[in-house]
Amino acid sequence: MKDNNNGDDKTGFSRRQMLSFSLAAGVAAGTGVASEANSEPSPSDTKVPELEIGKLDEIKPGAVVEFDYPDDDSPAILLRLNGPAEGGVGPDQSIVAFSRLCTHKGCPLDWNAEQKMLICPCHWSSFDPALKGRMIIGQASQGLPQITLRISEGNIRAVGVEGLIYGRYTNIL
Ligand code: FES
Repeated sequence: MKDNNNGDDKTGFSRRQMLSFSLAAGVAAGTGVASEANSEPSPSDTKVPELEIGKLDEIKPGAVVEFDYPDDDSPAILLRLNGPAEGGVGPDQSIVAFSRLCTHKGCPLDWNAEQKMLICPCHWSSFDPALKGRMIIGQASQGLPQITLRISEGNIRAVGVEGLIYGRYTNIL
């Protein structure tokens, strides 16, 4: 092993050269991880099954339909409001659906027709279904995942989830 003032060791590289190699390797590894992460689909983009929820002509203004989506462990709710809603479908864009699991700690939400809000019985977070499930007040830090709806041949179908359902790292377990 060399022992001189420029720090060469038995590899034949100086400390400065070794430091440069380490930094370059770290940058390359970091770049690789970042580009790999960017190329992966978001957990909430995971392909989910289609589910028929009901017939359009049977779901009148004020209707409430509870269902499970995208699987049996994921309670959801469809609402036909009395006017247009963000992301709504149907003749007056008033039909919307959301995960019923509160984004704070996962309690199932209740629909309060008088207040026109989905309200959590645990800590009272309130979500507005006319505004894409936006949280209006409460402990949660984000809005509700909205179920993507499509109307086909008079049937209302769930075809996707926009956002990540509480407690999951991907919407399909
Ligand atoms: S679990 Fe809903 S506000 Fe806390």
